[in-house]
Amino acid sequence: MISDLFLQELKNNNDIESVVSSYVHLKKHGRISNGLCPFHSEKSPSFTVYPENQSFYCFGCGAGGDVITFVRRIENLEYVEAVKFLAQRVGMAMPEDAADDGTARLKTRVLEINRALARFYHECLKEPSGKAGLDYLHGRGLPNQTITRFGLGYAPNSWDAAMKHLRSKGFSEEELLAAAVVARGRNGGCYDQFRNRVIFPIIDLRGNVIGFGGRIMGDDRGPKYLNSSDTPVFKKSRNLFALNFAKASKRSGLILCEGYMDVIAMHQAGFDNAVATLGTALTSEQSRLIAQYTDHVTLSYDSDAPGQAATKRAVGLLSEVGVKIRVLTMIGAKDPDEYIKKFGAERFGLLLEGASNATEYAIARAKQKYDLESADGKVAFLRDFAALMAEVPNPIERDVYVSKTASELEVEKTALTAQLNHELKRAAKRQKRSAAELKVYSEVHTEPQKQDFQRARNIKYALAEDKLLAILMKNPDYFEHVAGRIRLEDFVTDRNREIARVLFDRLQNGQSVELTLLSAQLSIEQMGIVTELLNSISGMMFDVSAVDSYIDTILSYQENKTQDEVAAMSDNDLKAYIASLASRKKQ
Ligand code: UTP
Ligand code: MN
Repeated sequence: MISDLFLQELKNNNDIESVVSSYVHLKKHGRISNGLCPFHSEKSPSFTVYPENQSFYCFGCGAGGDVITFVRRIENLEYVEAVKFLAQRVGMAMPEDAADDGTARLKTRVLEINRALARFYHECLKEPSGKAGLDYLHGRGLPNQTITRFGLGYAPNSWDAAMKHLRSKGFSEEELLAAAVVARGRNGGCYDQFRNRVIFPIIDLRGNVIGFGGRIMGDDRGPKYLNSSDTPVFKKSRNLFALNFAKASKRSGLILCEGYMDVIAMHQAGFDNAVATLGTALTSEQSRLIAQYTDHVTLSYDSDAPGQAATKRAVGLLSEVGVKIRVLTMIGAKDPDEYIKKFGAERFGLLLEGASNATEYAIARAKQKYDLESADGKVAFLRDFAALMAEVPNPIERDVYVSKTASELEVEKTALTAQLNHELKRAAKRQKRSAAELKVYSEVHTEPQKQDFQRARNIKYALAEDKLLAILMKNPDYFEHVAGRIRLEDFVTDRNREIARVLFDRLQNGQSVELTLLSAQLSIEQMGIVTELLNSISGMMFDVSAVDSYIDTILSYQENKTQDEVAAMSDNDLKAYIASLASRKKQ
């Protein structure tokens, strides 16, 4: 990390107007200048430079930011390269250890700890004391070859074996705590996090061991699986087990399942494009990660009720990022691991080939909900069915489902079609309404062309978030008040939550949130967004009560959650949701 002081000086020496002028012909208009945007083709100038806060923004394509962002874009440079470029331009010497501050060093240490510990756990399998672990893995059908490939291990049945080993390698207690491989007990001493468990190392896309999952053996007490808590190098919600292998698979698409053992069983059976979430329901961060690697996913969750709820949630999240989905229905086994053991890899392959698409899956689910033998049941099901069909954009595909369902239920196809048309009209009306909202919004707010459906759907909350972020950047002294009322989880849109995460983090540490300093942490797209937000409130003043009303709007989203969303929640999410409602009422 480059120091804030250096960056501020860099900014002072590189006036944005003079830097931009060497690429763009700028014309002055009072306090601002504008010209033709260098980042997209246009005939009338929408590219604007604001000397007052040393920023630029294009109303045509949404590019924006500080002077460093401008150089990154126009010279196509990474952040540090752009800083070097500007330093050279004005003859400033780059600080020696530009990439070595405390957090970077701690991250490196944590990764070293994880690597050493993974090796230790793996070696333990070969010790006499680790025989129980090895027997367990063999007993679950994993040969040594698989154990080696996944680097599986065994955590000894001891309070401090891992800690002693790591201390002897020169890691301090503090570093071990930061890596979350030991915890501090009530008496002040530290003890090993994983004891008498088989260990599944979690490896990221660069091959670093970033965390562990540990499965209980025999009838020990405690949770079946224990996962590393979040550390400076590990966020459960942002990683997927085995993506490091799956991304190199020759198979097309990814298979998403629930458990470590499922993934390993599938890889062993040749389906090496399987990945799993890490003890949580799929998150929107993971769905975006998936979208970076593939455009289609086969969901292969457990066949029990929680597995089906998780499927529903995943269907929603993945469609939001444009990933096509198929759903595997396993009969006669609870999860892929069990299925492959019982019926073999070949039959699992056939199951995969025949996996139904998301619509078929939704129809099958709706059928299970009602008693289709009774007239009432039929009517209720058909209402659901029509609503489902309204979401299928292709009329030919729709017709296939309608014909099939009409004959299965022994109802007239024409009757079904009539009901369907009614439903389609209602859906069209709904769509028109939200398009109208979107239009009003875009008249005041020229947004980059890229569509953000989540934002469009939640525009009321998104706009309140926009204001809150802008006000916070301009009035960092409001942070304490803001942080006392709203948490990152309360943000409705991912786009703004990610920006808030950086702002909150810096403000919590007493760091400045001026544009030039943000550009080290935000992407160039995010820089465009914050610049636009900041300039949109230029010349306006906000007091704390204005801040409160924006926060109230954002918080009201939770209360308006549709029943559907609540129904799709996992038990834990539901508990958290109810707790959050209760705590809010008290305030
Ligand atoms: P399951 O309970 O379905 O277990 O949990 P499994 O994968 O079939 O495990 P085996 O076959 O009994 O060994 C699915 C996943 O949920 C997470 C783990 O990631 C697990 O793989 N989980 C489960 C936890 O994080 N903690 C738990 O206590 C249980
Ligand atoms: Mn299982």
